[in-house]
Amino acid sequence: MVAEDFKSVLREKRVFRPSKSFSRHSDIKSHAEYKKIYNYSVKNPEKFWAEKALQLDWFKKWKKVLVKKGDFYKWFAGGKINIAYNCLDRHIKAGNGNKIALIWESEDGKTREYTYSELLKEVSRFSNVLKSNGLRKKDRVCIYMPMIPELAIAMLSCARAGIIHSVVFGGFSSDSLRDRILDCRAKLVITSDGSYRNGKIIPLKQNADMAAEKCGFVKKVIVVKRCGNKVKMKKGRDLWWHQQMSKKGIKDEFPAVSMEAENPLFILYTSGTTGKPKGVLHTQAGYLLFVYQTFRWVFDIKDDDVYWCTADIGWITGHSYIVYGPLSCGATSLMYEGSPIYPRPNRFWKIVDRHKVTIFYTAPTAIRALMKEGNKWPNSCSLKSLRLLGTVGEPINPEAWIWYYNLIGKKRCPIVDTWWQTETGGILITPLPGATPLKPGSATFPFPGIVAAVLKENGKRAKPDEGGELVIRKPWPGMLSTVWRNDKRYKETYFGKFRHIYLAGDTARYDKDGYFWIMGRSDDVIKVSGHRIGSAEVESHIVSHKAVAESAVVPIPDPIKGQAIYAFVVLKKGVERNDKLRQEIINHVANHMGHIAKPEKMQFVDDLPKTRSGKIMRRVLKAIAEGKEDVGNITTLADPSVVDKLKEGRVK
Ligand code: PRX
Repeated sequence: MVAEDFKSVLREKRVFRPSKSFSRHSDIKSHAEYKKIYNYSVKNPEKFWAEKALQLDWFKKWKKVLVKKGDFYKWFAGGKINIAYNCLDRHIKAGNGNKIALIWESEDGKTREYTYSELLKEVSRFSNVLKSNGLRKKDRVCIYMPMIPELAIAMLSCARAGIIHSVVFGGFSSDSLRDRILDCRAKLVITSDGSYRNGKIIPLKQNADMAAEKCGFVKKVIVVKRCGNKVKMKKGRDLWWHQQMSKKGIKDEFPAVSMEAENPLFILYTSGTTGKPKGVLHTQAGYLLFVYQTFRWVFDIKDDDVYWCTADIGWITGHSYIVYGPLSCGATSLMYEGSPIYPRPNRFWKIVDRHKVTIFYTAPTAIRALMKEGNKWPNSCSLKSLRLLGTVGEPINPEAWIWYYNLIGKKRCPIVDTWWQTETGGILITPLPGATPLKPGSATFPFPGIVAAVLKENGKRAKPDEGGELVIRKPWPGMLSTVWRNDKRYKETYFGKFRHIYLAGDTARYDKDGYFWIMGRSDDVIKVSGHRIGSAEVESHIVSHKAVAESAVVPIPDPIKGQAIYAFVVLKKGVERNDKLRQEIINHVANHMGHIAKPEKMQFVDDLPKTRSGKIMRRVLKAIAEGKEDVGNITTLADPSVVDKLKEGRVK
């Protein structure tokens, strides 16, 4: 959110209520009904979740809903379940095998559809492929793929066989992929020859090769032929997906493995304040229940809905609300491969019309980018199939909200502004579309079962509009079970600040009506186009360039991306400052981390503002990068004169 928008959020007074006809057909029909369910859920959380869990198909019922050990929680202990079974077989058993599960549109406009029965067949075959390649329960597989159906199939196949998947966003560099493979010690990598973006081919296999080369324990690489570009296949290691799927002995059936409720399902890496990205671990039963229930209520899903979430499956949004949430509810989920503006800025709206999308879920950064292209693009499409809109990933500024509401939703579609995180597994603060009066820019109220609060530094509850740290006081089924092989980091990161209370790492406030307003990260995480980038990671890549001695990066407001990265760089003695070097360092970061982590601006400086104990004062750097004259109190700086020099050299 840019500074101006922050002010407009504070002034925001408009309220938008769902239409009577929308409410009438919803599961939860009024705010009063929500409050009743909410109060029951937080008074009897275990009973509430147990009732919901009965909707799923269990191989063995749980013994205890919640087992607590310090800050670690086990949900549905003693139960046995399989998430892929619940996403596929369950619906086929109920007679819905011919319903469309996945619709896929490629960037070049081709469409593929899978019914639930067809998807189960593909998933089972690929589970057999994994098994035939020596993969066993609890092994790890890294998936580095574009947005093609094989990506969803690979995830579900792992889940079916009890194998832990770790999807790595296709826009990440080979270094980022290597770090993740190393951390989870994946035996197998699944990738594709290439991926399409804006009509160009991105060589994914090449990146996967560079990463796998450095990890001797990667025994096999399975490659989907997507673009037909030339790739090198390493003998004995690399295998084509299509050949594996059609090889002799690969059957259409694969019995879903009965998993302990708390067995790992997937690891998804995300950036934090310090060090390398952390492997957020989600487990079978709690995660399944949470994405199932949130998807049902937040998206008010009906049998004939066509639901489209535009996220990439490389992020948690795609895991929970393209694959596991929609499929566990037996919904039709659309997945799109390419760029929102290819070949023209009406691509999203054309897809909505072509597939008669009824529910559309996207990110504020996409809304802002499309808004900038002008009204003629959405106005050239009908959009009449839409009935509900959603947003996620960063605060939405009221202007963008209103544009989305008027131009896309034609004033008839509620907007669910959903707040959540990789760690939370699913949506925690959100409107329920038939029930909640909406305020543009507010994620409104906690989902049933979620006890959210805003705390001051001293741990006391903040007053209305005072602001503070957003926390969740009670466990919920979708919460991460730990950081992969790093319980210490789990405890320190999430439960280190307030005793036994989950710290989200966001600042927020609630208003006099109890609406939550998320302001942004309270830690050193920068949200570029809704993607989480750790400052420490960018800094360590800048410093790994041979010309650099020291660096600090801070966020600056960006009208489209929300935030962009501003880097302060101290060069080594004797190195000449010039634009060529600046570009070289920027490219160095992009090559090592991926394009999303690229600094937008880079200022060469003699010194960074440090306290006498040597701590960099980021607050001062942030104020300078934002062009502020007043940088706040600098009496604790070792050398306050650096501030003026920094101001002089600011990159505009
Ligand atoms: O800062 C919040 C922001 O995204 C962070 C979580 O990022 P990530 O783990 O990548 O997951 C993104 C998709 C769930 C949060 O700490 N965020 C997410 N949704 C919202 C949001 N900020 C404001 N409003 C939202 N609706």
